[in-house]
Amino acid sequence: MSESQDEKVTRRDFMKVAIAGMGGTIAVAIGIPAIGYIIGPASQQETNAWIRLGAISKVELNTPTLFKATIDTQTGWINTQEDVSAYVMTENGQDFVAMSNVCTHLGCRIRWIADLEGFYCPCHNGVFAKDGTVKAGPPPRPLDRFETKVENGILFIKRG
Ligand code: FES
Repeated sequence: MSESQDEKVTRRDFMKVAIAGMGGTIAVAIGIPAIGYIIGPASQQETNAWIRLGAISKVELNTPTLFKATIDTQTGWINTQEDVSAYVMTENGQDFVAMSNVCTHLGCRIRWIADLEGFYCPCHNGVFAKDGTVKAGPPPRPLDRFETKVENGILFIKRG
C-alpha cells in the first residue's frame, strides 16, 4: 500500500467520524426541545394546579372579598397569562369558600352589592345570594366554586 493510499483511508475515516458527529449533534439539538415540547405542558400544569390568591387576613367575616391572581399557562412553546378572580367568604375565619365571579348564565362578571346582600350581574339582571345560589334572573345554576386550601396564612384555590 502506498503512502498516498494510507492518507486517503485516513481522510475517509475522518469524514465518517465528522459526519457521524454532526448527525449526533443535530439529533440532540432537535431531540431535546422535542422531548420538552411533549412533556413540558404536563409538568407546567402540575405546578399551576394551585393558584395563590393572597393573605386570608384580607377576608372580612361574612363579607365576600374579591381576590385577583394572574397565572401563567404553558401550552407547548406558547406561554400565556390568564387573570383569575374569586370571591372568598368565611363565617368563622377558619373555613373559606371561594366562588367564581363569572355569571353562570352567559359569562358576564358579577359583583358584590352589600345593599342587595348578593351578587349582581349587570348583563341580564341576574342575582346570586351570598352563598352563590341563584336568587333572581336567568342564571341556570349557582356560582361555580373553587377548591381551597390555606398554607401559612395564604389562601390557594384550585379549579375543578
Ligand atoms: S350573563 Fe349574567 S344574567 Fe345573563
